[in-house]
Amino acid sequence: MHALLVTPDAPGSLRLGPAPDPTPQPHQLLLAVHHISLNRGEVAFAGRRPAGTVHGYDAAGVVVRAAADGSGPKAGARVAAFGAGAWAERMAVDTTAVAEVPDAVDLADAAALPMAGVTALRTLRTRDILGRRVLITGAAGGVGRYAVQLAALGGAHVIASVGSAARGEGLAELGAHEVVVGLEGIERPVDLILDNVGGPQLVAAWQLLAAGGSVQNIGWASDEPAVFEPYSLFFVGAAKTMSTFGDVHEVGPDLGTLLGFAAAGRLSSEIGWRGSWDRIAEAAEALLERRVAGKAVLDVASPA
Ligand SMILES: NC(=O)c1ccc[n+]([C@@H]2O[C@H](COP(=O)([O-])OP(=O)(O)OC[C@H]3O[C@@H](n4cnc5c(N)ncnc54)[C@H](OP(=O)(O)O)[C@@H]3O)[C@@H](O)[C@H]2O)c1
Repeated sequence: MHALLVTPDAPGSLRLGPAPDPTPQPHQLLLAVHHISLNRGEVAFAGRRPAGTVHGYDAAGVVVRAAADGSGPKAGARVAAFGAGAWAERMAVDTTAVAEVPDAVDLADAAALPMAGVTALRTLRTRDILGRRVLITGAAGGVGRYAVQLAALGGAHVIASVGSAARGEGLAELGAHEVVVGLEGIERPVDLILDNVGGPQLVAAWQLLAAGGSVQNIGWASDEPAVFEPYSLFFVGAAKTMSTFGDVHEVGPDLGTLLGFAAAGRLSSEIGWRGSWDRIAEAAEALLERRVAGKAVLDVASPA
């Protein structure tokens, strides 16, 4: 088969090339991958993986062979999947990390969902957000555009923070009550922050947190250090907290929830870049240069 392989001297450290077919374990199904999606971390850090690794985590396609242990979808089912080795013509994936794609949902939209959608869902679920003020930084990106929609669905007052006014386009339509550049104009404290950006903006965002509020540290797209002045983390009153996020355990049921929202027209996969997977270098560059509004989705086809 062909796959996107970690290749240190290739642009973006990735290249389309031949790879051995995966061998599913008893609890894994074999998927014919039709579409894949990119996430900032795996693109930015591809070069840190061993050369020759089949890269990527998000895919959608059709089950070729069901899991030997009888779990999960049957052959022929359309599924979205999360797991290592996704950017390939065929992927072996745990049946606990897949969900069937409803007929109403396009497979390319489904491929956009796993890592970004589940991250948005799980970080929002850390709090009761009904009627609360939720700040989402990096809101124009992959995680951000799902988070805005899900926070609005959950009844929050949604504040979407972006890097420039142009990057804020479309976020009000997705459910943001306020779209701000940086943290400008946020006048009242916020109860929950989903932080995708890190750096000095995280330090400033911390000061906006209400008593008892929390920050979910999802990512650090800024790549800049954050310096907290002495005692700036001291607070009299209900504790403010900051939590890491990296929970990718058994994403299948949550992925199913997201696909259900999508089928009901309540969650849109905002695909800002779409093309064949042989254009991986172009797609990766656009993502890293903040030119993708939402997700980059690549179509998988056998090279001629
Ligand atoms: N913890 C986890 O499990 C998990 C899961 C998924 C993602 N992540 C991480 O979460 C972050 C968001 O992921 P994503 O896939 O949504 O990324 P993305 O689509 O590239 O979005 C990142 C956003 O960050 C903003 N940003 C602000 N300063 C930036 C800078 N200096 N350089 C680049 N971007 C900057 C950009 O805002 P503008 O567009 O407004 O310029 C961009 O929209 C990444 O750091 C990623 O690695 C973590």
